[in-house]
Amino acid sequence: MRVDVLTLFPAMFVGPLDESIIRRARDSGRLQLAVHDLRNWAHDRHRTVDDEPYGGGPGMVLKCEPIFEAVEALSSAATRVVMLTPAGRPFAQAVAREMAQCEHLLLLCGSYEGFDERIRQTLVHEELSIGDYVLTNGALPAMVLIDAVTRLLPGVLGDDASAVDESFSHGLLEYPQYTRPPEFRGMSVPPVLLSGNHAVIAQWRQAQAEIRTRQQRPDLVENKRSAETPANRTNEL
Ligand SMILES: C[S@@+](CC[C@H](N)C(=O)[O-])C[C@H]1O[C@@H](n2cnc3c(N)ncnc32)[C@H](O)[C@@H]1O
Repeated sequence: MRVDVLTLFPAMFVGPLDESIIRRARDSGRLQLAVHDLRNWAHDRHRTVDDEPYGGGPGMVLKCEPIFEAVEALSSAATRVVMLTPAGRPFAQAVAREMAQCEHLLLLCGSYEGFDERIRQTLVHEELSIGDYVLTNGALPAMVLIDAVTRLLPGVLGDDASAVDESFSHGLLEYPQYTRPPEFRGMSVPPVLLSGNHAVIAQWRQAQAEIRTRQQRPDLVENKRSAETPANRTNEL
């Protein structure tokens, strides 16, 4: 997958996307990432990309010209243009899975008061929010999206099953995990996990995932129920 990012703060991307799984995805060519400074498309010698809002009010608004020109320069027919905005569709694992199917993402990171509305109306295929809070600019949201999407690309995780079996993948949180030693400060690993019986372990994990989801995220249980049609409804939750 190719991902281009348009931002006023390219330096923020140095570090988080240079480590761990994302680094390996980039090195193997599974993720081709380019971060572009929006000011490269400014028209004046001060490299201005923002202006005062019509109608007055605090802050500055990102101008149309640089963003239109940057998007035109960086996109092709295969590009999905994604605007990061608190007003967008909530970003979730299911959305990450959708994005992971795309050939090319172009991420628009806002700053100041955000974007001139004509950018949203004309250029954008998808608006995404990473949560109901306001960050100073779109760099962190873009990095969150890139991280969540990259680990879903085929071959990026050492074992692709890791992404199938974790929290949110089936509308449930993940079951509890344990590793050695079997006994630590009086706390024991559940005996079923030491039994070697994979069918029983799978049943135990499913039951634990359901209990944990009911206790910690009842909203997920509700969503899963309402997403099920009467014909495919399961009774386990
Ligand atoms: C200070 S915010 C602008 C907030 C805007 N005035 C509003 O009230 O919706 C600047 C930029 O940060 C990014 N941003 C901030 N919070 C975000 C969130 N929760 N999800 C996605 N992007 C966010 C967006 O790109 C936004 O244009």
